[in-house]
Amino acid sequence: MNWKSAIEQTLATTRLNIKRFGDQFPIVSLGDGKYHLTDHTSWTEGFWSGILWLSYEYSKDPEIHAAAIKSVDSLKKRLEAEQGLDHHDIGFLYSLSAKARWIVDKDEDSRLLALQAADILMKRWRSAPQLFQAWGPEGDSANGGRIIIDCLMNLPLLYWATEQTGDRSYADCASIQAEKSRRFLVRGDDSSYHTFYFDQVTGNSIRGGTEQGYQDGSTWTRGQAWGVYGFALAYRHLKEPYFLDTSKRLARYFLEQLPEDHVAYWDFDAPQEQDTPRDSSASAIFVCGILELLEHLPEDDPDRAFLDEAVHKSIDSLVNRYFTAGSQTEEGFLRHGSYSVRGNSSPDDFMIWGDYFFLEALMRLEQGIPGYWYER
Ligand code: GLY
Repeated sequence: MNWKSAIEQTLATTRLNIKRFGDQFPIVSLGDGKYHLTDHTSWTEGFWSGILWLSYEYSKDPEIHAAAIKSVDSLKKRLEAEQGLDHHDIGFLYSLSAKARWIVDKDEDSRLLALQAADILMKRWRSAPQLFQAWGPEGDSANGGRIIIDCLMNLPLLYWATEQTGDRSYADCASIQAEKSRRFLVRGDDSSYHTFYFDQVTGNSIRGGTEQGYQDGSTWTRGQAWGVYGFALAYRHLKEPYFLDTSKRLARYFLEQLPEDHVAYWDFDAPQEQDTPRDSSASAIFVCGILELLEHLPEDDPDRAFLDEAVHKSIDSLVNRYFTAGSQTEEGFLRHGSYSVRGNSSPDDFMIWGDYFFLEALMRLEQGIPGYWYER
């Protein structure tokens, strides 16, 4: 199947989902092919909005546009109500909704909403250890001083806020976080920790660990994919060559661990048996990350060829083996994602972020539309 046909088939599912989801937002399925719907309690609501914006950009369908606007209005109410915002995933929530609407419609209210979201994300900045605390309140004994690799994808909201306002403080903090992530989350063999702990007062490094991975020293596949994409985006904004190099090194490690069908198992260190779950969402993120990375590599870079081949092998496998291809009954695009295998939470299901990045990958390849992480 070619990419254009695949996009058309996602549109068929999305049109049905607009009716099925109503005012709610999908998060993951629970073993039955149907999305569990949330009401602004999760880190994931932006992905449905992002799917709607990408689908609208492709189709120019006014009904999809109306649904996309409605999703942004809903996230606006969430922000006004200060509901479910006490975590670092504000970047995921508002880049793909308010910022997306700004990028597509040039709607000023949406631009201001995205800037308000950036201010809320800045409240996660802890000045003593110099980091964005992912989860929990300030001073929290379990999560204070803890960073996670996923946060690299929240930072683009801050780079953008600096571009929009001229206020350096957003990008300065983002830059410190990206640098800390590079130094402490990436290991010498180019694998990665999911999370890392620092002393909340002195900022001294303590240890790496995991939340969703197989064990503390393992490499959680989705975390590695967040790193590939997040460091490439850090390079786009900060222009430090070592971010590009880090993205490339993480990508090479990811590729070297892939099984025959080029779609990753959920953790690179989990024992690989007949029924070991995959994480198709990690592979979708990975494809988008490499496509971003390729944008920055010179034409004669010797690594272009293997990265290009990796993109094609992974997306072909996702399209031909994992994609629901316009199914009338299955609500997701990509089968065999995993939320938390270790926590037995949707270990083999649809993940709304997997669907978002799958569509973003197709849109990058087919239309040159790179999602909503940065101004075009
Ligand atoms: N950012 C949370 C996750 O990837 O599951």
